[in-house]
Amino acid sequence: MLAAQDYVCGRPLATVTFLALRLGRPLFLEGEAGTGKTEIAKALAAALGRRLIRLQCYEGLDAASAVYEWNFAAQMVAIRAAEAAADTDHLRAGLFGPDYLIERPLLQAMRPQPGGAPVLLIDEIDRTDEPFEAFLLEALSDFQVTIPELGTVKAPEPPIVILTSNRTREVHDALKRRCLYHWVDYPAFDREIEILHARAPQASATLSREVVAFVQRLRTEDLFKKPGVAETIDWAKCLLALDVLTLSPEIIADTLGAILKYQDDIARLQGSEARRLLDEARKSLQPA
Ligand SMILES: Nc1ncnc2c1ncn2[C@@H]1O[C@H](COP(=O)(O)OP(=O)(O)O)[C@@H](O)[C@H]1O
Ligand SMILES: [Mg+2]
Repeated sequence: MLAAQDYVCGRPLATVTFLALRLGRPLFLEGEAGTGKTEIAKALAAALGRRLIRLQCYEGLDAASAVYEWNFAAQMVAIRAAEAAADTDHLRAGLFGPDYLIERPLLQAMRPQPGGAPVLLIDEIDRTDEPFEAFLLEALSDFQVTIPELGTVKAPEPPIVILTSNRTREVHDALKRRCLYHWVDYPAFDREIEILHARAPQASATLSREVVAFVQRLRTEDLFKKPGVAETIDWAKCLLALDVLTLSPEIIADTLGAILKYQDDIARLQGSEARRLLDEARKSLQPA
């Protein structure tokens, strides 16, 4: 099913995803940036024909931005208008009603959706703080939200939940224990070739093999930020745009910004270093 969405994965990830669906458990995916964690939620939603609802986490994210907020500005306008028309009695009942409610991702995920329960992607949870994690733990345990002025909203069918973390900090045990867990690693050579073939099919076999071998070699260096699969794909697309047929140290130097995003890492590859890594990458290709 994932392959039909051009999502390439091995048996362990496919199995844990299947089990998350079958058992109705949240799936916790942890791993380096650009290894396909967010993408699997998109692929799953597309494959199942479900709506994808994304809660992008960030520092300072609170329940109001995650669940619901009252639209104060609209409420103020309604109050002013009612005052002007001397009709405030009528107003009170409607002011904390659905018209003035802004539904954020967690509340949206509890609403019935046409195709069935949505896929709820809670992305990069490591960027939030512990109080929010505790709050999430509760929300994930019963899939209901109480809005004091309106009552309780309960999901008719629990959403399919995928949480991701780039592991910039450890996520609390309690939350992980509620989920099925999988560490998403950088793919091995053959799998990365497969991914590249799925996502940048115009790249020739020769160029793909060189690109993947070079990126894989680069990942063994002590870099501040190693390139993910996303960078491999981007780089191949850049090379295609330049009509490159085969890698050279000059081409690598010209296009490094597609795979390395920190000046310190880029500086390491200046001079003869790119040539050395390319030679080594080519050597690793020879047996095939
Ligand atoms: N297994 C995979 N199959 C297909 N594409 C992948 C895979 N892994 C990564 N990608 C590509 O890399 C890009 C970035 O992946 P993403 O899911 O955003 O990474 P992250 O792990 O940081 O969330 C995706 O848009 C997709 O094109
Ligand atoms: Mg992501």
